[in-house]
Amino acid sequence: MKRILSLILFIAPAFVLAEPASNMVWMPETLNFVKDGDVKKGEQLAESCIGCHGEKGISPMGMFPSLAGQMANYTYKQLRDYAEGKRENSMMSSIAAGLSEKDSADLAAWFQSLPAAQNQPSQDDISKAISLVKKGNGKKILPPCFVCHGSEGEGQKMDTPALAGQQADYTEATLLAYKNGTRHNDLYSRMRVIAKQLSDDEIKQLAEYYQQLK
Ligand code: HEC
Ligand code: HEC
Repeated sequence: MKRILSLILFIAPAFVLAEPASNMVWMPETLNFVKDGDVKKGEQLAESCIGCHGEKGISPMGMFPSLAGQMANYTYKQLRDYAEGKRENSMMSSIAAGLSEKDSADLAAWFQSLPAAQNQPSQDDISKAISLVKKGNGKKILPPCFVCHGSEGEGQKMDTPALAGQQADYTEATLLAYKNGTRHNDLYSRMRVIAKQLSDDEIKQLAEYYQQLK
């Protein structure tokens, strides 16, 4: 019994001291810093992103997310999270580590200024996704996606990304990564809690639903 108690005492601080999901704190200074991002400088820096994220931020391939039209705060946060090891990816971690905070804000401003991708309506059955987006699931702790991501998937200013037009393969992969915990940079675990309750089939439908939204 004593051993179990001391084990609990030993483990408990690990939870209290668990690493924060992200170093980002949305103070007014940070919000203003991102808002002052220089679109022209961002356009120049973005030359090196075209190979994967496409001309004008519209990705040519399912595995690469489109960045066009994305909320600047969200893009800025992701770049800083990659740079600081809070979000990991073999391609993005080193690229982001080479960007200063100012570069990240300039790039975020450039991508926000571009029109988002437009896609054809889906021919597949996405009825489960439509219900989850609009109503959520009261039997689980699943709020409808639209309350945060907007009724047109347009996102919200603070740090909630736009999802409309995003490559379905990427959205599916990133939701699965939240679900299994390999993506863990969401503040307050908001997306991890949600994704854990989604079946893989629901995730697939949600990814398709958002890709075809305009
Ligand atoms: C070699 C290919 C490659 C290059 C070059 C590249 N990226 Fe990426 N980028 C990726 C991949 C792959 C992902 C998805 C990674 C993941 O799942 O975490 C990604 C993800 C991102 C994300 C996260 C998007 C989201 O919706 O969460 C941002 C922001 C981003 N890249 C910005 C940039 C910027 C800015 C540049 C240029 C300075 C750049 N990338 C260059 C491959 C690349
Ligand atoms: C309580 C608010 C909230 C709800 C509800 C919510 N999200 Fe999110 N979502 C967020 C936030 C905030 C982020 C950004 C997290 C970060 O900084 O990495 C996010 C990120 C995402 C991303 C990553 C986007 C990218 O470009 O990588 C996807 C995909 C996503 N959410 C899908 C969904 C779906 C599908 C639902 C409904 C089943 C949903 N979300 C419900 C707040 C929410």
